Amino acid sequence: MSEELYKVAVDYASRAHAPYSKYLVGAAVKTKCGKIFGGCNVENASYGGTICAERTAILKAVSEGFKEFDEILVYTDSDEPWPPCAICQQTMAEFMTVTTKVHLANKDGVKKEMQYGHINPFPFRL
Ligand code: THU
Repeated sequence: MSEELYKVAVDYASRAHAPYSKYLVGAAVKTKCGKIFGGCNVENASYGGTICAERTAILKAVSEGFKEFDEILVYTDSDEPWPPCAICQQTMAEFMTVTTKVHLANKDGVKKEMQYGHINPFPFRL
């Protein structure tokens, strides 16, 4: 696991805009060429407008021209580290492969390491 990804995700969690859920999430993606992009959840008073940390990080990378990823780390200060939500998993399907590493972390460090194909083996595709 990349120590650097963990630090970036922790840092971005502190930037979360989460006045409604108070659930602060940070994510960090590493591109194939080694660049790291971080993101946080950005909530909206119209709840459906909320963007998760994973999508913020991925969309930042894609909008800067980076579409291929080796790893993603998701950090939140909960006892149980949960996998990315289904909407984020579908966004991940667009830019990640079955072997892309997914690290789930909390304050105690990385708690679960898996591959994208394990959490979403059958994504929607056109
Ligand atoms: N959230 C994420 O940032 N990532 C996920 O994968 C699940 C949920 C955020 C969205 C919302 O701001 C808060 O966590 C509670 O759902």
